[in-house]
Amino acid sequence: MAHTDNGPVEFSAETMSKINELIASYPEGKHKSALIRILHLVQTEKGWVSTPSMNKVAEILNIQPIEVYEVATFYTMFHLEPVGKYVFEVCRTGPCMLVGSDNIIEYIENKLNIKVGETTNDGVFTLKTAECLGGCGYAPLLQCKYKFHEHLTKERVDELIEEYRSGKHDQN
Ligand code: FES
Repeated sequence: MAHTDNGPVEFSAETMSKINELIASYPEGKHKSALIRILHLVQTEKGWVSTPSMNKVAEILNIQPIEVYEVATFYTMFHLEPVGKYVFEVCRTGPCMLVGSDNIIEYIENKLNIKVGETTNDGVFTLKTAECLGGCGYAPLLQCKYKFHEHLTKERVDELIEEYRSGKHDQN
């Protein structure tokens, strides 16, 4: 998907008020500590974290843009490209792979007609892979927003796609 947010960027009044509240909770000179939480707020509003958004965050925190890029590019939870409404991040690290994460990834690719890193034409789903999500005992699993879906099977993937399409996971 092409970048659609390359111009100067503004955050909503609601986001700005939350950002200012966060910044105020850190002592003078330590405002950079709010960075990860601010990036989450930006991603919640915009859906992803563009370079102009990162530059804006740097301006707000009075730090260098590179300091924001370093953090945003390190954590895979920040989307640096436009993504669909729901991002399925399937763990592909050893323990998950041993119990079939490769098959799950391939199944989702075929089911949604996209490859890893792509978004469905209707803009609803993006498929990504992730390194260990910290739930190895429940493998294979995927994360979508802040929810984990564990012990995945093809049948469970079918259900999940339906559940997300119907908005079931939007409420909780
Ligand atoms: Fe998949 Fe740890 S390897 S959650």
